[in-house]
Amino acid sequence: MTHSSNHIQTAELTWRDGTLPVSTRFDDPYYSLENGLAETRHVFLAGNDLPARFVPDFHIAELGFGTGLNMFTSLLEWRASGQTTPLHFTSFEAFPMSAPDMEKALRSFPEAHAIATPYLTEWANGNRYIETDSLIANIIIGDARVTLPEWTDTANAWFLDGFSPAKNPELWGDDLLADVARHTAQNGTLATYTAAGFVRRGLASAGFTVTRTTGFGRKRHMTTAVLA
Ligand SMILES: C[S@@+](CC[C@H](N)C(=O)[O-])C[C@H]1O[C@@H](n2cnc3c(N)ncnc32)[C@H](O)[C@@H]1O
Repeated sequence: MTHSSNHIQTAELTWRDGTLPVSTRFDDPYYSLENGLAETRHVFLAGNDLPARFVPDFHIAELGFGTGLNMFTSLLEWRASGQTTPLHFTSFEAFPMSAPDMEKALRSFPEAHAIATPYLTEWANGNRYIETDSLIANIIIGDARVTLPEWTDTANAWFLDGFSPAKNPELWGDDLLADVARHTAQNGTLATYTAAGFVRRGLASAGFTVTRTTGFGRKRHMTTAVLA
């Protein structure tokens, strides 16, 4: 028998200061050293003009699920916005973290941690499609370069959250960005913390109108984009 092609590789981590998960494979932290939740709100929510654009059945998609912090922050904003249908959140992840590692990371963000338990319980049971009254979470396991082309849905807003383009170039390539565009609803948007020139050019050739805006904390710039 050959090696199973659907063998799942899990995340390999070290912990900086006992609290910040750092990927050994990519030699990069999962989020900003300063304040991950504030960074998420600035880059991914505000960068997609959220929560202002929330409407029933809004669909967010993400490259790089990691600790789930972006999903839980989105869910906090969704609930606070008064929406009554579930938020759709689809994320693509090649190296899933264990539930205890996610729980440990989220402890730094009490607001997110407070709503995470039911999802982490499902995650620990191996469920990657998790439905509650306020969230339909679908975490698609595998290399996004393989799984995104096969995805049959579209998103209203995208979070591009791979590790840094220098360390994780496979998550920022032209073909994948073209696939992001193909899976974006009309007038859909995208945000990412990076302002790397090759990423912005890739997004432009995929059909996005790209804008460089103010980054979070010490990062001077980030990128937002809209698909007309
Ligand atoms: C910066 S972290 C994401 C942080 C996450 N959004 C959060 O809220 O914690 C980048 C993620 O991309 C994942 N990743 C890296 N290469 C990938 C690939 N080719 N396909 C899918 N996911 C990948 C990593 O395993 C990691 O979880």
